[in-house]
Amino acid sequence: MRKLGPGRLVIASHNAGKVREITELLGPFGIEPVSAASLDLPEPEETGTTFLSNAELKAVQAADLSGLPALSDDSGLCVEALNGDPGIFSARWAGPDKDFGLAMQRIWQEVAAKGPDAGHDAYFICALVVAWPDGYTMEFEGRIDGRLVWPPRGDQGFGYDPFFVPNGHEQTFGEMEPAAKHAMSHRARAFELLKERLL
Ligand code: IMP
Repeated sequence: MRKLGPGRLVIASHNAGKVREITELLGPFGIEPVSAASLDLPEPEETGTTFLSNAELKAVQAADLSGLPALSDDSGLCVEALNGDPGIFSARWAGPDKDFGLAMQRIWQEVAAKGPDAGHDAYFICALVVAWPDGYTMEFEGRIDGRLVWPPRGDQGFGYDPFFVPNGHEQTFGEMEPAAKHAMSHRARAFELLKERLL
């Protein structure tokens, strides 16, 4: 088992929302986050069939190309009535223009097409992988359960946040202050595990 000391850590993601959240979560640990974009690292094709396998291929490639430890995040929204879709395809359902308004509409319509008994239960998953240039990796996964609402509400956060209310709450992730989301999100839960083991 390894530890992550102070120093540079590549954030192997081209998603500005994720890079911002990960930077905030790493804030207190003396780690200097470096974005994949600032190193001109390519965005690998996500050929894995699970969140963890996609996170692993992103972190391994970034560590290999940069010569630095790298942290990746593969995450997404899974809708129970759609058998877990869009899941690992969460970003791809938004299309090349990354139009999450359209993706949320598609999900809502597909759930409606399942009939009046289809529920709106959903969960977010976040898989985090840290990879070192020698190929060693460590993985962590977090989940938060909740429900979808229509219409989407709030302009905080990113992606599907305005569409998702975590269990026990009334506000969507899009309406919450970032600190409130960070106290409970799938990413925060995966991060708790990472902190216990690595920091
Ligand atoms: P990928 O992991 O880069 O393939 O993309 C995951 C996609 O899932 C993102 O583009 C978001 O649309 C969605 N997603 C992941 N985490 C969150 C979150 O915390 N809030 C809202 N959407 C998220």
